[in-house]
Amino acid sequence: MPFSQIVMNRSKTNKLNKKKSHDNIDNKMTAIYHPNTQMVKHDSYMTPKYAWENIKNYLAPYKDKVIWEAFYGDGKSAEYLRELGMKNVIHNPYPEYDFFKYQPDHFDITITNIPFSKSKEVLTRLKEIDKPFCLIMPTAKMNTQYFRKLFEDSENPIQIIIPRKRIHFKKLVDGKPVDKWKSACCFDCFYYCYKMNLPRDIIWLKDSECVEMKKKGNHKSNRSKKDPNATEN
Ligand SMILES: C[S@@+](CC[C@H](N)C(=O)[O-])C[C@H]1O[C@@H](n2cnc3c(N)ncnc32)[C@H](O)[C@@H]1O
Repeated sequence: MPFSQIVMNRSKTNKLNKKKSHDNIDNKMTAIYHPNTQMVKHDSYMTPKYAWENIKNYLAPYKDKVIWEAFYGDGKSAEYLRELGMKNVIHNPYPEYDFFKYQPDHFDITITNIPFSKSKEVLTRLKEIDKPFCLIMPTAKMNTQYFRKLFEDSENPIQIIIPRKRIHFKKLVDGKPVDKWKSACCFDCFYYCYKMNLPRDIIWLKDSECVEMKKKGNHKSNRSKKDPNATEN
């Protein structure tokens, strides 16, 4: 085969591979939105119950307060918060209740996982509202210029809670779950907290606080059972 033909074939294969890898990224969960990638912006990442359960100790002071779960998704997030003992959770469907046009008459804290593509606008609005919040957002948001502008000189600093393991959201496209979503999430998140007066500015969640660690048997209290060096009585 002439050399020019080999080069052409290789270029075709590269193009195909590139397309494949893009398709692949699209089918996975991505928080990377770049104008050149032609990727569709998907904002429907539903919070699994364990993501709220893992920080229940830090949410405990708000059990009897009014909580605004401002972004509806499939409506489950508020259900989970209620199951964790938070009685007053306001959670209204979108687009009837648009975050940028509506806010409850009274609420004490916003606890939610936001549409990541609108982080700048959401953070700007919540900063203006100036009430406590706890938001799940990709770690990369911390490095953005708008985040810096909003919070670098803020009287009330942002505090973060770092999950023990990556949160695997349920991704919906056109209202339907994406296959194999459990292993598909390809970005890490923090809980970004404002005015919550947490005991430390950075909190690393411990194994003992995380339901998925306990279930897997990774928690310290379970380890002795698996320890190959453990002596049997
Ligand atoms: C990341 S999902 C999280 C949903 C839910 N809070 C949860 O934790 O499972 C964000 C949701 O916000 C919705 N959304 C986007 N723009 C919105 C707006 N302006 N007002 C209210 N909801 C919006 C999206 O449709 C998406 O379902």
